[in-house]
Order: sequence, then C-alpha cells, then structure tokens
Amino acid sequence: MECLQNWPEPIIHVQSIADSGAATVPDRYIKPISDRPEIGKSTTVLDQQSIPVINLAAFSETGDIDHEHACNATLMQEISVACRDWGFFQVVNHGVSPELMKRTRETWRAFFHLPMEQKHKYVNTPKTYEGYGSRLGVEQGAILDWGDYYFLNFLPWSLKNQDKWPCLPETLRETVEEYGREVVELCEKVIKVVSRSLGLEGDYVKRVFGGEGVGVSMRANYYPRCPQPELTLGLSAHSDPGGITVLLADDRVQGLQVRKDGAWVTVQPLSDAFIVNIGDQIQVVSNAIYKSVEHRVMVNSEEERVSVAIFYNPRGDVLIGPAQELVSPARAVCCMPMTYNEHRLDIRKRGPRGKAQVDTLKSSSTPPNLY
Ligand code: OGA
Ligand code: NI
Repeated sequence: MECLQNWPEPIIHVQSIADSGAATVPDRYIKPISDRPEIGKSTTVLDQQSIPVINLAAFSETGDIDHEHACNATLMQEISVACRDWGFFQVVNHGVSPELMKRTRETWRAFFHLPMEQKHKYVNTPKTYEGYGSRLGVEQGAILDWGDYYFLNFLPWSLKNQDKWPCLPETLRETVEEYGREVVELCEKVIKVVSRSLGLEGDYVKRVFGGEGVGVSMRANYYPRCPQPELTLGLSAHSDPGGITVLLADDRVQGLQVRKDGAWVTVQPLSDAFIVNIGDQIQVVSNAIYKSVEHRVMVNSEEERVSVAIFYNPRGDVLIGPAQELVSPARAVCCMPMTYNEHRLDIRKRGPRGKAQVDTLKSSSTPPNLY
C-alpha cells in the first residue's frame, strides 16, 4: 500500500499545458504507435456500427419489471444481446431529467474553467483518488493521458465526504447530490434487468454486491483541446473495474470508442441518453457470459470535452465470484473470487491498461470450490 501514498512525480495538470498554448504534445503524452487513435484515416466498415439502444420506458412506468410481461421479455433479450455482443449500450427513457443531466455536465464544465488555484486546493493523491487529479496509476515514468478529472464518493455513507467535493461553483454540491441520487436509482434498475436477463433473481446482483453496502463514485472527466490529437489519448484503453458505469457524455463533442471485434467503434451519443457499460465485476458474477469491454477516449484540437461517469460497484470487502447458477459442466468457473478492493488496488497502481487485470484473474490456477 505504501506506494499509493503519493504520486511518483510532481503532477502537471493537462489543462495547464493546453492553456499555455503549446503547439506540440510533450513526450510524456505520446503513445506508442500501436495505441494511437486513427484520426483522419479512412473510416472502416465498423464506423457504421453503433452500440445498441435500450428503451427503459416500460420499467419507468411500472417502477419494476417481471418476467411474464411480453415487453419485459423483449427488454431482457435486448439487454442480454447488448451485454454479450458489446458490453455497452445507450439507455433512453431512463427516468433522469434531461435538465438535471445538462445542469450536472455544465456545472462540472464551470468547475474545470475555474482558475487553477481554486482547483488545486482539491488536488488528489493515489491513496483514495478523491479530488482533482491528472493521472491514474503510480508507475514512475508512465506515459500519461491527455485529461484531468475530479473523483468523489457517494456511497457508502461512511466514505461520502462533501468537504472533499468542490465548494465552487456554488451550486455544485447540491447538483451533484441530486444527480447522484437519481443515477443510483437508474443503476439499480439496470442491474435488476441485468440480473433477470441472466436468469437470476432481480435483486441477485445487488445482494452479492453487498446490498446497502454497495459503493458509488463519480468521475468528472475534462479533456482539454490537444495540439496533436493523433499522438495521444484522453483516456487509455481500459475496462471499468466495478459493476456498471453510467456515463453522461458531452453533447457536442465525440471521443469515446468501444472495442468491437478487435476494431474501435466511435460512440455517437443520442441526445438525453446515457451510455451504460458492464464492468469487470458483472463479468465475474455472470461467469463471463457478459463481458466488460475495453474502451478509450480520443481528444481533438478543436474543442474540449466533458463527461461524467458514475460507477456502481460492489462493497469493497465482499468476495465476488461467478453465480453458482451460471456454472455448469459446459461453462467452467471463469475466475477466482476476489474482493473489489483487491481488484481495484491493482488498477490504482497500474493505471488504465486494457483488460490485463481481468485476464490475469482468469488464468489463475485451478479455481477453488466457491460455495
Ligand atoms: C471512464 C470512461 C469515458 C469518457 O471514466 O471510465 O471510460 O467518455 N470515460 O469520458
Ligand atoms: Ni471507463
């Protein structure tokens, strides 16, 4: 744990580099050729593809779903296909007000536009990551991403500390609180459908995630304009370590790409929709029937980009393993049970690095009897 007390090098906020008017990207941000985005290259067939869109209207009306209802069967089938084939989908008619979504994104944009002294008060450390940050991972000399972020905790109550949330803009704490509450409700709807679509009880995932002890955090991402976007990434390829992620993307600027059949597909957010993705812990619970898919963020020279991610995660100290119902002679146990705290620690040390973490898990020796 010691290496997580402090960053290995002085922190430079990406926004400061961008605002200095630099015409080139400093070496620390230049990715190896194989990782660079293919900006400006001719588009591939995959650019025509897009992540599935899921309509949650049926759910919003009744406040719940059951197996019997025909439209719910369709919904579960759609979720199942989306989670198997993409690990990503957009949700519409999700119940969160578009006004609140916009207010939240613009409040964060205003925060990132505050003078650096204001933001610097909240500068974070790798110990908890809470606050204003400019890197993930503590590896000395690592190639960095072209983005700053703000990370904070909502749940469990014991980790929520509003003093660690920005006090400016004045409405931020209130807006973020309201937004968090609504998006947590949405997360719970989504995991219910995900549970049922796996043939499990609706409350299965929440229960194994630790019930009322689940963890919820937010990361507001700020990707400044970049003088040489073809050389770097706003966020390197990674899968999300937790349960599910609900992303509010920028309404004007694209940048998120999802790995599909080895290629990168750029997500085109629908207005007022959320982008939802499956994290490593759902992959584990589903015994790898569902996949946490790699994604990354491109930057551009024209415009900054703001996104707000909510992560819905298991309680940190419970063992998460595959659901017994999903293990069979034909589908062996996919991975060793592990706590989310242990899994996340790897990532907090190493930073975003594809899916190496889950893949290492998978190949660990003979799995013990889980139950
Ligand atoms: C993340 C993430 C995507 C984006 O925060 O984990 O993948 O578009 N963000 O900012
Ligand atoms: Ni992510």
